[in-house]
Amino acid sequence: MTIAASRCIRPCLRCYPHKLMSKMRDEIRQQPTALERTLRLELRNVEKLRKRLAANPPRMIVLAARGTSDNAALFGRYLLEIATGIPVALAAPSIFTLYGATLRFDGTLVVAISQSGESTDTNLVLERAKEGGALTIGITNEPESTLARMAEYTFLVRAGKEKSVAATKTYTGQLLMLYLLAYALGARLKLDDLRRLPDWASASLKLEKEIADRAERYRFMTHSVVVGRGLNYANAFEFALKMMETCYVVAERFSSADFLHGPIAMVESSFPVFLFAPGGVTWASMKEMHDKLTSLKAETLLITDASCREAAALDKRRVITVPARLRHAGPLPEEVFTPIPYIIPAQLFAASLAVEKGLDPDQPRTLSKVTRTL
Ligand code: F6R
Repeated sequence: MTIAASRCIRPCLRCYPHKLMSKMRDEIRQQPTALERTLRLELRNVEKLRKRLAANPPRMIVLAARGTSDNAALFGRYLLEIATGIPVALAAPSIFTLYGATLRFDGTLVVAISQSGESTDTNLVLERAKEGGALTIGITNEPESTLARMAEYTFLVRAGKEKSVAATKTYTGQLLMLYLLAYALGARLKLDDLRRLPDWASASLKLEKEIADRAERYRFMTHSVVVGRGLNYANAFEFALKMMETCYVVAERFSSADFLHGPIAMVESSFPVFLFAPGGVTWASMKEMHDKLTSLKAETLLITDASCREAAALDKRRVITVPARLRHAGPLPEEVFTPIPYIIPAQLFAASLAVEKGLDPDQPRTLSKVTRTL
């Protein structure tokens, strides 16, 4: 990677503080409020669903979504399987939209996740699932959307209108709804822990200036890899997607296990690799990956939090530390609440890097807010 020159040749964040203003950045900053509102207003709905599911629990769960919402679904797969023991599959919409297949959905809970509620294929999966006998749930930010009308139960991410093309506050809102779904399915999740998520999101926002400064170094980055594992695997997909759409960086995403099965051969000196590395069961493999990358002289940047003692020994120039103690004691994995606070520095990084590159994060080329595919 080429390191940025010391004199500014493009509008950078320090010379042009107004560049710290964008819809994307505003929406990143709104996340603590959006999370608090969603939790407060959706809880009654969730309790209703909890009663129904206790009487008639599903044998299987299918999650349908696209793009960022699909990344939230990937998180949901890990959380729901770990916390409820129910097998979870991610839907392949073309099974219905292109191949016209009919599936049997009895005993299955099908959840469609869509910020807009207007993704054609996500909605079609839900429609076919309903016809096939599934219990259906829609998770959306838009109460008047097709999805909200179609699903048997609708859960609203109450993030407020998302104006930026790049989804940020609706992603974390969807993650929150998936914790609530796990709770509704009987997971041993304490609501008081979920109530701390807005504060943890606020802690991440304190990193805004630090991240704006760090992004400068990556101004000429054209390619990168993001590595995550387990509950943070979805964040690797989401961080990569944010860098692709707002910074036009070719960003691949892997689990630390998959990365060793071939892709690591790409890594040479200065190759940029971002890692999500909380304490807990995934730490050992992420640390091993980090050490391997360091020996290859890769340009690593590791996202962790203040409770990860193991990360304290690493070179601080290569670490972003969320200033909150996120380690959790209880029946669920100790890193269970890291995904929301960990994605916020990544969102901020993408928003800052876009500006470093002279791009407008609110106007990614070729894209519009709603993408309709079949
Ligand atoms: C990326 C982004 C898109 C959407 C995708 C699905 O930042 O916003 O990837 O997530 O087009 O859209 P919805 O959630 O409206 O179904």
